[in-house]
Amino acid sequence: MATTQENPLLEGLQLRRTPDPCILVIFGASGDLTQRKLFPALYSLAFRRLLPERFAVVGVARSEETDDEFRERMKEAVQQHGRDEFRDDVWETLADGMRYVATDFADEAGEDRLVNVLNELDAEHSTGGNRVYYLAIPPSVFGTVVRALGKRRGTEGWTRLIVEKPFGRDLESARELNSAIEEHFEENEVFRIDHYLGKETVQNMLALRFANGIFEPIWNRQFVDHVQITVAESIGIENRAGYYEQAGAIRDIFQNHLLQLLAITAMEPPIDFTADSVRNEKVKVLRAMHTPGPKSVVRGQYGRGFVEGEEVAGYREEEGVDPRSMMETYVAAKLYVDNWRWADTPFYVRMGKRLARRETTIAIQFKRAPHPPFEEVAAEALRPNVLLIHVQPNEGMSLAMDFLYGGAFRTGLPEAYERLILDAMLGDATLFTRIDEVEEQWSLVDAIVAAWARDRPAFPNYPAGTWGPPSADELLGRDGRSWRRH
Ligand code: BG6
Repeated sequence: MATTQENPLLEGLQLRRTPDPCILVIFGASGDLTQRKLFPALYSLAFRRLLPERFAVVGVARSEETDDEFRERMKEAVQQHGRDEFRDDVWETLADGMRYVATDFADEAGEDRLVNVLNELDAEHSTGGNRVYYLAIPPSVFGTVVRALGKRRGTEGWTRLIVEKPFGRDLESARELNSAIEEHFEENEVFRIDHYLGKETVQNMLALRFANGIFEPIWNRQFVDHVQITVAESIGIENRAGYYEQAGAIRDIFQNHLLQLLAITAMEPPIDFTADSVRNEKVKVLRAMHTPGPKSVVRGQYGRGFVEGEEVAGYREEEGVDPRSMMETYVAAKLYVDNWRWADTPFYVRMGKRLARRETTIAIQFKRAPHPPFEEVAAEALRPNVLLIHVQPNEGMSLAMDFLYGGAFRTGLPEAYERLILDAMLGDATLFTRIDEVEEQWSLVDAIVAAWARDRPAFPNYPAGTWGPPSADELLGRDGRSWRRH
């Protein structure tokens, strides 16, 4: 069978060390993420024998459930969302060490139950006190859980804390969350997830830029006209109104995934590939970004429309959404990175829900050749000098020729969560965000959101199934440019 090892651009997962024996404890085990992403990822890691041989996993959530019910629910989740063929023998290796603890951490009794289960598992599976705590819980209960874990921290083995987004809702709350963490955990024990960093194509961006010297000499303001980053989704908010009405596109995608893609595109070569060297360079990019003026940011909200031939509701008609909601489902912006490499080079970014198609791309538009050998029209059709990185779908890159992984490598790519869970178990924080990055990201978002308080756009301003509001086209039009055609 073909495996990801065949991808020569990557250090294959197969080549990696196996983590130490450990117990993974998932808080928020009844949530969507656990079913759709975390267990399918664990199954795929088990399928490839990448998990430690001595391993156990505990689900923690408020609802009452027995161990068997939990196992059954997760088995179905893996069958439904997993990318690999379901095999009972593989599942059994996971199910054997699976336990469930119901608690809301409001009382010590819940903490006791968890500690007892962990001690039992240590004894049964020889996991030596090593713990990976995965916090897939809302920010409102975050502090309670972190304090309980800190208080009950054992003396044996290592501890790692994986924290799902959203990491706060502004700079202030992010700092509060972090001080709760800092009381009990060192920064090198904390793994803040931005799952876009776990995507293979995003890692390949690093390989493309730094593992060979072809692009580096032209990766700057002298040769690059501008950069376009698109994170387009065709899905709506998928029963997540409660969350999305608080977040909007700016906190859901811009603050994290989008700014991380930009930082990876713009960063200087790190001195080595250790977590801190890579993150030092990313944070410099984030620091060099200045707040865009109001004319450089466009927001939108989808109305009713057609997506892939089907009529869909407008945002304000979605269940649980305020019928007069002013929450944005689309953001486009012109951003600048004020440093020697990028001064005066615009980074146009856009992201939104219910757009025409799912597509995440980074387009590096190089300046025109001095004497184009093609007729104007032909040159426009060819869109010369664009390096297009397809983050998803059709993962790959193209530069006046297409090289899409789907065609070149036979198997599906690993899910971002597989890589990230494994890295956290190995203690490798390179693909996780450090607190100073998170703080810079929030500073920028806070400034943009503060400016928004002053006006009320006429929402909805784009029909579902289109590429966003007309003002997003004008944003580039004013500079004599346009969004990449689709
Ligand atoms: C999540 C957002 O972080 O990323 C979701 O909360 C979004 O709103 C999702 O749909 C997109 O992830 P992916 O991997 O499907 O591009």
